[in-house]
Amino acid sequence: PQKQLVNVTFLLRDGKKQQVKAKVGDNLLDIIIENNVDIDGFGACEGTLACSTCHLIFKPEDFNKLPDKPTDEELDMLDLAFGLTETSRLGCQVIVTKDMDGLEITVPKGVSDARK
Ligand code: FES
Repeated sequence: PQKQLVNVTFLLRDGKKQQVKAKVGDNLLDIIIENNVDIDGFGACEGTLACSTCHLIFKPEDFNKLPDKPTDEELDMLDLAFGLTETSRLGCQVIVTKDMDGLEITVPKGVSDARK
């Protein structure tokens, strides 16, 4: 069956918004790559939970609705992310669901690669 698509908007570092079609079941790193969302340094470890460059910030109400809670590994890596917030996640660990339609996600202003 064809995968379902939902609309997700990224609020980029320069203040611009980019809305993309996100496939349900993909993670947010995949979505950003597939849609050529241009975020410098994003996803440097290609989703292997080793870099924290895929850090994204959710609105509190959206954050609380995300289906999966972060694993300890994700939390450890998030601690190293630039500009960590209470509603931060690593994009490579967040799987898109139908409920995420209309989500607006903020790209942090900076990036730090935990491997450096
Ligand atoms: Fe490196 Fe997500 S892409 S931790």
